[in-house]
Amino acid sequence: MTDRYGIMGHPVAHSRSPFIHARFAAQTSQDLVYEAIHVEPGAFLAAVDDFRAGGGVGLNVTLPFKQEAFTLSQTVSERARRAEAVNTLSFGAEGVCGDNTDGVGLVRDLVSNLGIEIRSRRILLVGAGGAARGVLGPLLDEGPSDLVVANRTLSRARALSEAFRDQGPVDSAGFSGLDGRAFDLVINATSAEVSGELPPVPESALAEGAVVYDMMYGAGPTGFVRWGQAAGARVSADGLGMLVEQAAESFFIWRGVRPETAPVLEALRRSL
Ligand code: ATR
Repeated sequence: MTDRYGIMGHPVAHSRSPFIHARFAAQTSQDLVYEAIHVEPGAFLAAVDDFRAGGGVGLNVTLPFKQEAFTLSQTVSERARRAEAVNTLSFGAEGVCGDNTDGVGLVRDLVSNLGIEIRSRRILLVGAGGAARGVLGPLLDEGPSDLVVANRTLSRARALSEAFRDQGPVDSAGFSGLDGRAFDLVINATSAEVSGELPPVPESALAEGAVVYDMMYGAGPTGFVRWGQAAGARVSADGLGMLVEQAAESFFIWRGVRPETAPVLEALRRSL
């Protein structure tokens, strides 16, 4: 029987997830369909009910519904609990299970695809919104020597770092507080690109041989990727690999099969 999956968001038409999951399914001979489902704000719970009533067995959830998906979940994974957000829902005999694959997606792209060390390295996580919160726990699990959350609004960076302090060496800063500090890995988790802006990270924040990573992606290099290249980063990568890796982890949760991500990432890059 063909199992039904999908992604709910607002907006969602731009989502590459149907492309990715269709390729994962073909590659692993899994009988499933995966569709993008546009949901108006306020209509998420009703849309999930409709989806389940129509035989849906699993959903990805993107902006702005990840917190609602967390609340809806009857059981959540530890990583979703820490993120306070769910991007992967499974509907089964045990009810609604929520998970969050964003952080592991980022870590896999960094470590497995790009060959970047996190253990014992100095990390700067730029931004303190939902995107930053979703990856902070899994980054700390990799054992960095220290991790600074920098944000335009310092109070948000402070609150986020305090919420994770028991899990690793995490601290907070405003952008002006970065003067004189250098990092091995600088990750952009802000939404500044959406308004054509860049978070004001000083070039001096890049240590010798530093890696820059933008969780955003686009048809060409993002503004932050170009900033990293101009500032002399050893690697300056966008978040397309993270997108494919978080999808692979969702696919694994649903199907118990791990797809190969490299050919799908290549095909996706060509399609943009
Ligand atoms: P998301 O779920 O995408 O993380 P969010 O919770 O609204 O969305 O958070 C957006 C993040 O991008 C925040 O860290 C925000 O900084 P503030 O907390 O100071 O608002 C950051 N951000 C957005 N535009 C920015 C800009 N032009 N420069 C720097 N940071 C920006």
